[in-house]
Amino acid sequence: MSHDIPKFLRAAWEAANAAGEVIRDNWERPGTIEYKGAIDLVTSVDRQAERKIIEVLQRDFPDHSFLAEEAAGIEGRTNEYRWIIDPLDGTTNFAHGYPHVGVSIALERNEQVILGLVYDPLRRECFRAVKEQGATLNGTPIRVSKVDELDKALLATGFPYDSRENAAYYLAFFRAFLTRSQGIRRAGSAALDLCYVASGRIDGFWELKLKPWDVAAGALIVAEAGGSLSDFSGKPSSIFGGETLASNSIIHNEMIGVMNGLVNEQSIQSNSH
Ligand code: IPD
Ligand code: CA
Ligand code: CA
Repeated sequence: MSHDIPKFLRAAWEAANAAGEVIRDNWERPGTIEYKGAIDLVTSVDRQAERKIIEVLQRDFPDHSFLAEEAAGIEGRTNEYRWIIDPLDGTTNFAHGYPHVGVSIALERNEQVILGLVYDPLRRECFRAVKEQGATLNGTPIRVSKVDELDKALLATGFPYDSRENAAYYLAFFRAFLTRSQGIRRAGSAALDLCYVASGRIDGFWELKLKPWDVAAGALIVAEAGGSLSDFSGKPSSIFGGETLASNSIIHNEMIGVMNGLVNEQSIQSNSH
């Protein structure tokens, strides 16, 4: 397997770069906008970028399977390898011209993510990790921050697309961290949020109900940069899990402590469902 890694990396980069070009070329004109839900958008550029990624990867790996946000699943001849793709993470940003978006591509082998690449086409930053081989930003190794208490931490979060229905529950976490950390950012791309944990730009990140294509690549990049990932109670998280907590490892338990109280608070939960 390991001898194939350079080939996988080259193809993942070629695909992400091609999607990045589509996003940059269409920056001033997001194309047609459709609604998947009340506030959940998809643009023609999301679809165009995804087609480009799948075209590049299928050319090199015609047997592989795909799990892509807009096209959903494509069964290849083998289920050993599956690419997990978010062609445009930060669609709401894109639709408004807010310059913060990413392209996320991960490769699973037998259901284990072995490679992750997240590309910010506007800053031209490519975050990358290979299992057990570390993480890099534009080729330079990255590590999580050394911030050792929540009190001094800069955090990031995001809100799922059902935030209108469950605002009270999501805001309870936001409120708790607002009074315990140095600040919270809500930049609108979970894949980039995870890469910012990995590169030490932020110290912790949490979000509920993320999808596998939001986290598959970023989670490996965090882990390979020395960070920790779990659900909100500290149990191992899956890319299909509903709770994502990522940190520089050092403040992980402190973050879980803050969340424990809230996950158990029935009054907030019943308010929100
Ligand atoms: C979204 C972004 C956002 C997060 C949402 C995601 P999309 O992905 O990652 O930051 O808060 O939960 O769904 O829809 O822009 O690909
Ligand atoms: Ca996404
Ligand atoms: Ca997307």
